[in-house]
Amino acid sequence: MRQLLAAWLVIDSKDLPMNPRLIGKPGVGKTTLAYAAGKRLGRDVYIMQATVDTRPEDLIVQPVIEGVSKLRYVASPLLTAVIRGGVAVLDEGNRMSEKSWASLAPLLDSRRYVESVVAGIKIKAHPNFRLVTTMNDDASTFDLPEYIHSRLQPQILIDFPERDEEYQILRENLPFGEDRILEYVTDFLQQAHSADERCTVRDGINIARFAMKLKSLATGQAHEAEALELSILETLGEEALRYRPRG
Ligand SMILES: Nc1ncnc2c1ncn2[C@@H]1O[C@H](COP(=O)(O)OP(=O)(O)OP(=O)(O)O)[C@@H](O)[C@H]1O
Ligand SMILES: [Mg+2]
Repeated sequence: MRQLLAAWLVIDSKDLPMNPRLIGKPGVGKTTLAYAAGKRLGRDVYIMQATVDTRPEDLIVQPVIEGVSKLRYVASPLLTAVIRGGVAVLDEGNRMSEKSWASLAPLLDSRRYVESVVAGIKIKAHPNFRLVTTMNDDASTFDLPEYIHSRLQPQILIDFPERDEEYQILRENLPFGEDRILEYVTDFLQQAHSADERCTVRDGINIARFAMKLKSLATGQAHEAEALELSILETLGEEALRYRPRG
């Protein structure tokens, strides 16, 4: 959070905000952090999900047919942030092609404007406009060219959380969760992380949630262990059972 807010800070009238990139394995909390940082600034946050077929027009302005021979130009969430001085979160940015990134190049350097080819306009970014993109470090669809890389700095790596942090994240998401189950799932996740298994807090939330649902249909202590085991099995598969906490 500190690094992200620092990157967005403007410390002099000649200074510019940076466009940080949050990288890390799936489910470690990149999108959550990006959103929380935007909210911390007290700005509106606009999240756009990038995909392999995100086109430049999707990122900026799209023409929509409205009635007979009438077109309306609709701003994307990203452009809305540009105009209103909000925070844009370009989620899963590595899924998007170079062509789409190229359309954002002037927005990401000292020019800070975007051009819409379809609408034939050039829009200067509001001084409060901030951008962050998230990227999975393993499932990269496109290797971005250097001129894009250099505009998406710094790269802030989110690693797996420490044990007590992970417990708190589970607790935050499952405030009604039984302590024994959350402790068990935390131990499970920590064991999986130390084996560098791709198994994240999102999986942990699902395991705990499903186990608690299963357990609520059953009665007695013995069912808790079964519920947790079944929940691991159905969330991550048999391989993951080896990270079950002992005792
Ligand atoms: N610090 C945190 N506080 C509360 N919840 C968190 C925190 N970090 C992660 N989570 C929870 O973990 C889950 C995964 O987080 P998130 O979706 O932000 O991960 P991600 O890195 O963006 O994943 P993906 O790569 O799949 O997009 C969410 O349910 C989120 O609520
Ligand atoms: Mg995400």
